[in-house]
Amino acid sequence: MNDGLFLPTRGSAYAGEVDALYAFLVAVSLFFTFGICFFILFFAVRYRTGSKASRAPIAVRHIRLIEITWSVIPLLLAMVMFGWGAALFLRQQQPPEDALEVTVVGKQWMWSLQHPGGRREHNELHVPVGRAVKLRMISEDVIHSFYVPAFRVKQDVLPGRYTTLWFQPDRVGEHHLFCAEYCGTEHSLMIGKVIVREPGEFARWLARGSDEPPEIAGRKLFEQFRCHTCHTQGETARAPSLDGLFKKKTPLESGGFVVADEEYIRESILDPRAKVVAGFQPIMPTFEGQIGEQGILQIIAYIKSLSETDSQEAPPERDGEDTDDDG
Ligand code: CUA
Repeated sequence: MNDGLFLPTRGSAYAGEVDALYAFLVAVSLFFTFGICFFILFFAVRYRTGSKASRAPIAVRHIRLIEITWSVIPLLLAMVMFGWGAALFLRQQQPPEDALEVTVVGKQWMWSLQHPGGRREHNELHVPVGRAVKLRMISEDVIHSFYVPAFRVKQDVLPGRYTTLWFQPDRVGEHHLFCAEYCGTEHSLMIGKVIVREPGEFARWLARGSDEPPEIAGRKLFEQFRCHTCHTQGETARAPSLDGLFKKKTPLESGGFVVADEEYIRESILDPRAKVVAGFQPIMPTFEGQIGEQGILQIIAYIKSLSETDSQEAPPERDGEDTDDDG
């Protein structure tokens, strides 16, 4: 354990590294604080009224070596702080490829989370120990902030844009989860727990859920909103096929390309005319106000699944029903 004094319990290796940097910053600050205080007191006593210390004027000389020394040492200290902090920050910006991806929707005043298999939870996040976990987060209303002190990670959760956060718990236990951005009357109640379990126990917990997998829920929404009437295969389709679309570099009608990631798919649902795929007309209506953020995440999971398992099941847009309908 050996947790830092005055600091929350550490729940990940990263937490230890953040604490080490923090200890360095505190140590440097203390060194200079005490050094400066010492000399203030020392000179105050030495040159107090009536003391016999020499007050004879000394010719001011320019000593280059001293000038350089007291410039270079602070510069080096500052650069160490910068380099060390930047390295940690950059690592925190790059989740590992194989991370377990959980979606998080913040709203006044609770956290809704969904695991890849479908299991949902509120104000609690169950995760397996030793595995990197990546959160894809968005807000339904105002800015919130997902903060787990034990992992030393915090990330704003914004309306209208996905943000991510990742951590790798290295010990079993329970940690506090806070909203760290004032978001209204019940901000202080927007709290919860991160529950770290052994992988086996976590798997059993996951299996107890009966929630629909997000890609299935997404396919239902896709059918409910009749997206499949336009997003079909073939020459006459009025909208691009979504098979194999995810993360693909897609040419745009306005020129240039876009990588069809989560952000682009979300934008295309809410503001379909922003980036129209080359060869198509801007005829898709917006679904703003009709689908919640959770629903959009589920549709994204469905579109993602069309790229992962294209041979396993025929996607519904091949049905060909109602192809004359405007949807
Ligand atoms: Cu949500 Cu504060």
